[in-house]
Amino acid sequence: MLNTDIRLDEPSAASATRKRLGQYMTPTDVAFFLVDLMPEQDDTDITLLDPGAGQGALTTAFIKKWTSQRPRRHLAVDAVEIDKRQHGMLVKNLSSLPQDQLLTLGTRREDFILSALKSDKKYSHIILNPPYARIDSKSPQAKLLRQQGLPSTNLYSAFLSISIKSLAANGSLVALVPRSFCNGKYYKPLRDLILHETSIHHIHLFESRTDTFKSDGVIQENIAIVLRKRTQAQNVSLSTSKAKNLSLSSLTVRPFQEIVRKGDDMRVIRLPLHQDCETSRLEPLIVKHRLSDLGLSASTGPIVDFRNRRQLRLTPTQASVPLIHSYHIQSHNLCWPLITNGKKNALVLTNKNAKNVLKPGYYIAIRRFSSKEQYHRIVANPVEAIGPPFLNGVSFENHVNYITTALTEMDRELCWGLTAYLNTDHADRAFRDISGSTQVNVSDLKILDFPPLEDLRRFGIELLKLGSVSPVNSELAVKNVLSTIHGHPIN
Ligand SMILES: C[S@@+](CC[C@H](N)C(=O)[O-])C[C@H]1O[C@@H](n2cnc3c(N)ncnc32)[C@H](O)[C@@H]1O
Repeated sequence: MLNTDIRLDEPSAASATRKRLGQYMTPTDVAFFLVDLMPEQDDTDITLLDPGAGQGALTTAFIKKWTSQRPRRHLAVDAVEIDKRQHGMLVKNLSSLPQDQLLTLGTRREDFILSALKSDKKYSHIILNPPYARIDSKSPQAKLLRQQGLPSTNLYSAFLSISIKSLAANGSLVALVPRSFCNGKYYKPLRDLILHETSIHHIHLFESRTDTFKSDGVIQENIAIVLRKRTQAQNVSLSTSKAKNLSLSSLTVRPFQEIVRKGDDMRVIRLPLHQDCETSRLEPLIVKHRLSDLGLSASTGPIVDFRNRRQLRLTPTQASVPLIHSYHIQSHNLCWPLITNGKKNALVLTNKNAKNVLKPGYYIAIRRFSSKEQYHRIVANPVEAIGPPFLNGVSFENHVNYITTALTEMDRELCWGLTAYLNTDHADRAFRDISGSTQVNVSDLKILDFPPLEDLRRFGIELLKLGSVSPVNSELAVKNVLSTIHGHPIN
């Protein structure tokens, strides 16, 4: 579902239909790139499925590559498309390809979800750029998916799940999909299915400013995932490309254990693509703990600004508590209050919102939205909500996540130390390994690795000496402490 469409034919479909059916066609060069990712197989005959075939960009590229291969095996194509207009173009485009005795073309106009779930046909090859749109949980499709143990909230995850089920033993599948299924609880059933039924062979990340999936204003990265129906291989190929420069020049091979860690109950699919010498130098020095192991918790600010408009104030009053919004979090220090351009700085206390006000103490505030072009995706600041004007507590707006104490007492050193760690290149790289969206989710923070409390407190003491939480100071504080602990300098 790439936005930069180089279409076989510009669809004049109303944008509502286009949106509902997720009609974003694969550009020709991307289609050939995806076909080239398909592993070589030595089956006697090829059976190809293209679910949500649109105008046939993927099938056309597959057939063109197959035509050039010698010796050729019989190829039977099943291209399924729901939309009348797209289906018309599909038939036209595929029938304009040169006739070939070894080629059998099948184009069906039907709902892939309803038809495939009632069939047990298997394919040696599946290639898909599935539609991206929410599935109504009350629809017959959602019901059938649940009945068959493939619960899906989005058309793309439903198409991918059904395709995995439709893959023959040793068969190969290439899918162009948003990266969002690689973590988070909603896509856990899909990850379980992938990891149970297939071997992850290759993941290619499309790093681009414009070619993006968009959902609720959240920009997501695209990946091509190559799966084989067999037990998991020891290694996985990883590659990445920027904008239109499609190539595998960045290809690396990593152990599967780095992609899905042993003992990870969420089965997050990590893309360790951002390791350069600088950041990977810290990797072996960080003893890994989750926030919950450290007795800490992460939450999203409960005050939604547009729902609390009447309680928000530009300047704090006796009857209000300080409100921390994303604009108060700068990469050098917390800038509160921000008396400029109508920025809201305080929340008037009411009986209704009292439960959303936190008691005075130390917190780490993290912006929820970041762009991948930003220097660091995580921008963290200590919030020292102690003494006036925090005597009545503090509140966090919904564009902000915050880390606070669950069991462990959050003191000043720990607060600054966690901030320092979160603002390092190392934490940024670790974050990019697990997240491909512009949002910093609480669930992402919960699966990040953190050093032990005593190391974090030492980072804090060092950062406090440096005086501000800029990325440079944070990096310096963490490296100074780790150099001392490990007895050798870390640059
Ligand atoms: C993202 S487009 C990709 C089209 C084509 N595969 C390509 O790569 O250019 C997804 C296609 O799936 C079709 N589609 C949406 N829902 C469908 C369904 N339930 N069954 C079959 N096709 C569907 C849309 O009409 C659209 O043509």
